[in-house]
Amino acid sequence: MKTVSSRAQKLIASPIRKFFPLAESARKKGVEVLKLNIGDPDLMPPQALFRTLAKLAKLSNFNYAPSSGIELCVSAWQKYYQKLGLKFEKENIIPTVGASEAIQFALWALADPGDEIIVFEPLFTNYKALAALLDVKLRPVTLKLKDNFQLPGAKEIVRLITKKTKAILIINPDNPTGKVWQPREIKEVIDIARKYNLAIIADETYREINFIGQTKSILSYNGAKERTILIDSLSKRFTIPGMRTGVIATTNAEWSQTILKIAMARLSAPTIGQLVTAALLGNARKYTDEIRIEYKKRSAVVQTELKKISGITINQPQGAFYQVVGLPVKDAEDFIRFMLTEFSHRKKTVWVSPMADFYITPGLGKNEIRLAYVLESKKLREAVEILGRGLVAYQKTFKHLNI
Ligand SMILES: Cc1ncc(COP(=O)(O)O)c(C=O)c1O
Repeated sequence: MKTVSSRAQKLIASPIRKFFPLAESARKKGVEVLKLNIGDPDLMPPQALFRTLAKLAKLSNFNYAPSSGIELCVSAWQKYYQKLGLKFEKENIIPTVGASEAIQFALWALADPGDEIIVFEPLFTNYKALAALLDVKLRPVTLKLKDNFQLPGAKEIVRLITKKTKAILIINPDNPTGKVWQPREIKEVIDIARKYNLAIIADETYREINFIGQTKSILSYNGAKERTILIDSLSKRFTIPGMRTGVIATTNAEWSQTILKIAMARLSAPTIGQLVTAALLGNARKYTDEIRIEYKKRSAVVQTELKKISGITINQPQGAFYQVVGLPVKDAEDFIRFMLTEFSHRKKTVWVSPMADFYITPGLGKNEIRLAYVLESKKLREAVEILGRGLVAYQKTFKHLNI
């Protein structure tokens, strides 16, 4: 018998990965593909990681860890948050398999099938997939590229609130836009959450990658703490996405207890990831300061190079490592396909992500792409130059004319 659930059928292929076969065949034809499609950076993780892994080579206990997390890992998160001025009890903090699992836990804990969560689009696409699997509806407030993805005003959020609304999700700094939320915007979200008694899901995966200052966690704003579930991760902060280590934290006891029961259903997060977390979190600042400077430099390179390309629209990212570009084309996916199948410059081409799938509202973002600056500056400069050349070549072909 062949059965696929209707929830699973709602899933779309990841916009970040779906052009993989085309990139592979370009590579087989001898074309070097400069990959700006995925947020998987080229930077070396901190040296402390390798020292820790060498020590862990002697580890002989591979039993399940507690569902609530290994004590060393939980207290490392607790101390890390203390340094940010955030107070959590140990039972408020549950290590997870990356932020991805924390997102899943938060949705499970807060929403039943048919419930709604207000989000800001464009947004990290995995939220769409995870919500679809749980039959939770994401109701989007649209942030626009031409407005540098600023919040259009509180009433845009309020008009989406229904009896089924359970939470507002905020990703700060943001993927895919690189937006760092302004205190004024965050306060608006908190005020609405308080007024309508909604939870806040705060994804602060990119907390340390902020070019304009230090990201103030939403939990340190008045009135947010008791209604927020915090999603966090080491993936980007320490350039170790493959270690799959993250956390979910909330001071709300009912949610903590519920999340622990959910965590028990998956037994435990991996031991190695938790021990690595314990070792790295204590010395977070030195490494994260270095990568912040590097990403800021790369962002400036990308901006400078993009400004040389005519007809495009760009935003000014202030954090994370992404850049959105509006292209003078009808269909960015068609352009990406062209770049991977028909175009190369000196045997090189570029792979970027189409933005349409980062939106929930159909039809939005069709002419937009996202660049992840996961290559060093020289390569990035070259990649953006190739993108510009590709765009000119694409526009010259009649069938691709934007008419
Ligand atoms: C906003 C956001 N949240 C969560 C994740 C997932 O992180 P993790 O690797 O910890 O699962 C990502 C990954 O790109 C992300 O951009």
